[in-house]
Amino acid sequence: MSNVMIFDHPMIQHKISLMRDKETPSKVFRELVSEVSMLMAFEVTRDLPLEAYEIETPICPATGYRILGKKLALVPILRAGLGMVDGMLNLVPMARVGHIGLYRDPETLLPVDYYLKLPPDIAERDVILLDPMLATGGSAAAAITLLKERNIHHIKFVCLIAAQAGIDLLNREHPDVPIFAAALDETLNDHAYIVPGLGDAGDRLFGTK
Ligand code: PRP
Ligand code: URA
Repeated sequence: MSNVMIFDHPMIQHKISLMRDKETPSKVFRELVSEVSMLMAFEVTRDLPLEAYEIETPICPATGYRILGKKLALVPILRAGLGMVDGMLNLVPMARVGHIGLYRDPETLLPVDYYLKLPPDIAERDVILLDPMLATGGSAAAAITLLKERNIHHIKFVCLIAAQAGIDLLNREHPDVPIFAAALDETLNDHAYIVPGLGDAGDRLFGTK
């Protein structure tokens, strides 16, 4: 579990519980996804390098620190990853945004890719891959493979709810990719939905069910 970070912050656990509640309407669900994503962004960007520079406070000269121009790209997995973009951009507004379109075939449970649009200089950027749900892990693993095939090797995966099966698959297929999750759930049901989970994240975000 060394490359997995599960957030235990009370604010995050509070908001995740509201998201799990089936009575929470889409509008509130969307706001919660965005808020939790912004809170997670603090920790996800913890290793951004700093450079020292000289400043003058009203009292005396001092050493200040600024983020050393690290280039970032956010890459949501469509559809549900879209819900995490604005929250993250609040913290890293200069990041570029790429998109990967993948859906999970309901019969085979295997990911089917249908769209890819990435910033042209993405290989020079650190990529934060976004998807609220890590269930079997098939979609996240396929998205990471698509990125690696394009010479992108600095990737972090950020989700809201992770199932152990998804973590195990990512650790096997992409052990170099750190995983950040707001909550870890035990198991999957017969349809590979996370239990207790929060249901279908895309449907709850966009009101399609
Ligand atoms: C959901 C979710 C992940 C995937 C997780 O997307 O947003 O992408 O399932 O499942 P996995 O870990 O077993 O691959 P879905 O396929 O429902 O597509 P949608 O966002 O377009 O509804
Ligand atoms: N996709 C979802 O949106 N939810 C799950 O629980 C599993 C896959």
